[in-house]
Order: sequence, then C-alpha cells, then structure tokens
Amino acid sequence: MDLCPFMLFKPNVKSRQKDLFSSTAPPKSMIKTSSSFYLYMGMYAVVEFASRDSVSSLLDVASVPSNNHESTVPYKSRLLTLRGPKEVTNQQSRKQNHPQTTIPINELIQRVSQEKSIDQQIVSLTEAYQLTEENSRLRFLVCSLVKDIASAYFPECSVELFGSSVNGFGKLGCDLDMFLDLDGISGRNLKMPKSSLAVEYQMKQAASERSATQSILSVIGGCVDEFGPGCVGVQKILNARCPLVRFAHQPSGFQCDLTANNRVAMKSSELLYLYSQLDPRVRHLVFTVRCWARAHGVTSSIPGAWITNFSLTVMVLFFLQQRSPPIIPTLDHLRELAGPADKSVIEGNDCTFVSDFDRIQLSGNTETLEKLLCEFFEFYASFSFKQKSINIRKGKEQNKPEAAPLHIQNPFETALNVSKNVNGTQLQRFVALCQESTWLLQQSDTITPKGGYTVTAWGLATLLLPSQIAAVKSGKKMKREPASERIKSLLESLKNKKQPRT
Ligand code: GTP
Ligand code: MG
Repeated sequence: MDLCPFMLFKPNVKSRQKDLFSSTAPPKSMIKTSSSFYLYMGMYAVVEFASRDSVSSLLDVASVPSNNHESTVPYKSRLLTLRGPKEVTNQQSRKQNHPQTTIPINELIQRVSQEKSIDQQIVSLTEAYQLTEENSRLRFLVCSLVKDIASAYFPECSVELFGSSVNGFGKLGCDLDMFLDLDGISGRNLKMPKSSLAVEYQMKQAASERSATQSILSVIGGCVDEFGPGCVGVQKILNARCPLVRFAHQPSGFQCDLTANNRVAMKSSELLYLYSQLDPRVRHLVFTVRCWARAHGVTSSIPGAWITNFSLTVMVLFFLQQRSPPIIPTLDHLRELAGPADKSVIEGNDCTFVSDFDRIQLSGNTETLEKLLCEFFEFYASFSFKQKSINIRKGKEQNKPEAAPLHIQNPFETALNVSKNVNGTQLQRFVALCQESTWLLQQSDTITPKGGYTVTAWGLATLLLPSQIAAVKSGKKMKREPASERIKSLLESLKNKKQPRT
C-alpha cells in the first residue's frame, strides 16, 4: 500500500496530548513532523510523519481492538485510537483545539460590524470563513483514507479532491468532493503497442461507460459502508446525472461525495482556482456573495431549485469580466494563452486553458471591494435573465439557447446549463434580494460605521441580516431618505410588486 504520511488519531480522552507519541513506545525510526488537534464529537489529532516508512512502522505495532462483546471487520486503516493512562483536563485540551467549522452568522455580523470600512468588512468575512491550513490537510487526509479503501479493489487508482475544498473558494464546513480516477488502469490513456503481438488483461464489458461507473461506485460505496472506519450514512446515488456515493466521515465531520469519471469537474475546479488566484478581490467577492446568499436562503445545502454555490461563483466571475477594465480574463483568452502541455480534451470538450500564471497579464482595474459589491447587486438586479445567458468563456452575455429561467453556460461542456435546476421563483428571489441590497448599500445609515459603546450592525453586516432586507421590502426604511434616480426606479419595481425582469 502506498501510504500517505498522515494519520488520524483519536486519543483516548484520558491521555495527555504530549503523551500522544510516548505512550505507545513508537519505533525509533518514526519521526513526527507536525500534529494538530481538533474537536469533533471527541478529540482528534492529525499527525504528519516524516516518511511513509514511519507510518508503516507504527501500523506494525498497532493492535486490533479486543472486544469480547462485538465482532469487528478486520480492516486496518490509518484512523487509530490511542489509549493511555493519564488524565487530562478539558481546559487543557480545549486550548489547543482548532475549530473546523465557521463561526455562526450572528458572531460574524458582530465581528464585521467592528471594522471601519466595508472593504475591511469583506476581508474580515473571508478570513473568518476560508479554509484553514489544518482543515485543508484534514481534507487531503480523508481523501487518502478513501483511496486506501478503493485501492483494495483497484490498486492503481487515485482519489483526488475537487470542488470548493481545492478551488480557492472553500468555506469551513463545506463538503468534500472526491473523484475516483481509474484512468491509469482503464486503458484510456495507453498508447498502442508497437509490435503486433500484445498481451491484454481480460476484463468484463459493461453496457456503457455510465453503467461501468455505476458498478464501480456501487462496489466502492459498499466497501466504504461495510469497512470504512468512521464512515456513516452511506448513500449510493447512482442514477443522478453524475452518479455518486455520499457519506459522512464522522471523525472529521466532513460530508463526502465520491464520484468517478468526472474529469470535467476536476478541470472546472482548476479553472476556478486559477481565477481565485489572479486577483484577491475575486475570492473576497465570491466569499461575500456566497455568505450573503446563504444568509437569505438563496443557496441551500439541500439539493433543489436553488442557485448552487458553483453557479453563484460563475456569476461573480462573469460580473468581474464586465468591469472596465475587466478584473479577470475570459476563458477564451486563457485558452489562447495556453501552451502545448496545457492542451486538454475531455469527452470531446475542449478544456484547454493556460496553467502558467506568468503568462496572464494582470488587470489595471483598481475598484474597491465596496464598489464592486454594490455594482454586483446592481448588475444582477437589472440583468435581462429572460433573454440572456451568462457566459464566462466569451465574457459577454449571449442569447439564451433554451427557456430555463437562469442560463449559465457550463464553461467546458458548452451545450449544458449549470443552473438548469433553478426555477423562476428562486431566480425572482435572487433578483429581488439584489435590488434590496443595492438600495441598502446606497443608504448613508447603512454605509457609515456606528460609534458608541455597543456594536451596531452596519455596512456589510446589514446585508447579512434578513430583518434589514425585510424592512426594505416593507418600505419602512425607504421613506427615510431619497435615493438616487437609478435606485428609485428599482424601488418602484419593488413597491408595485412587479415581477423582476427575468
Ligand atoms: P460547495 O457548495 O462549497 O460544496 O461548492 P462546490 O464548488 O464544491 O460545489 P459542489 O460541491 O456542488 O460541486 C463540486 C464541483 O462540481 C464544483 O466546484 C464544480 O466544479 C462541479 N459542479 C457542480 N455543479 C456543477 C454543474 O451543475 N455542472 C458542472 N459542469 N459542474 C458542476
Ligand atoms: Mg463541494
């Protein structure tokens, strides 16, 4: 087994953290390089070792639990329990724990209200929500634990992370998207043999690539369910457009989605990562809009007719391409800058784009985050969703090829709409919230920090408070101050309860 040098320990609550490595008398060759502790339904430690050999040595001395009452499945993983004799106080253990979930929204509102400018508020929100280094490590570790399980059937497979865990827009607590990659053994990337004589593996034929994917995921899902330590609530969702196995990894607290044959999504994650790194304002704006959307129920963790975080991110990217000068380049431009090694065609879709950041010219745009946030809401408050499609490949709105309420072209599978699931009601809610948020951000009592002894919500914080938006809707706040002409017309549309332009 090709061991990743990380292990996950559940120290016996009675053992002292500093005794974590002395109480089992680890082999001399084992050199620990780092460890971090976190609390999730018990205390755990992620430990990185200097080499894979160190991990193997430790596993050699680990024993199988002896439990006379229950039978165990004898599957050995790198999730270990450390038993030790000494007491540790709760106080001590808490001091060193790192939280792996975001702070509650009320706490976030308090925190950002203490900042002196809306720009600082946006930065503070990103800092509070983004993945920490420890959390990222934990994600890679869980992914490698899943790979260990899949390797039992497919020793040459790899399991890769994609989605918000790695695309630069991950928030603490976001799900863990994994991709089981069997291309190394599927023969897809193999060259034709030079000689006419060849030795081939005999393999079973599947009716289609989709049914092969379903069979593989069904088997691996079964293994995760039956043998995966800490893996609970396994669901095989094999008839979805993209078949997947969903489960919770209890020790880490991650909700995991395992897919296979999902290479285009891997490319989308790489593209999003590239955009997230081009300009810090990209991440700040995406985090803020995602948080705002979640606070108002525009997005949800339950699948349905809601706008997804992925769609919302593409909408922010598209908006940033519309600025003058644009803050980020179009996907077509990124393709033009690509070198020969960047060429990538997946299932007939051109997924080529530059990977060398140095070839991308940075934007001369100097707009502030406050301005961009305000303009984002205004842009989508009046976007002609009825006729136009959002297209980050061209960086221009295009005529809609189909009648879906919201059309966002899939960046790589260009015939697909990534927001096909969104219904008219959800789109209208989004548009109305954009209108109300635009209005709020134009009000001086919103955009001025509040002094005094108690911290009062202002600026970005007011946008995250559903009650403030409700006040705008009911017209209470509108009467207080005259708004600009543009905003007045938006308000008119709200007052008259007209349908937004969809
Ligand atoms: P979170 O809500 O934080 O999990 O964001 P996410 O970006 O990880 O989204 P999600 O878990 O729903 O999907 C994981 C990845 O799959 C995304 O980042 C995209 O790369 C891809 N993806 C999600 N939805 C779609 C879709 O509708 N079409 C395509 N082509 N890819 C999608
Ligand atoms: Mg995800």
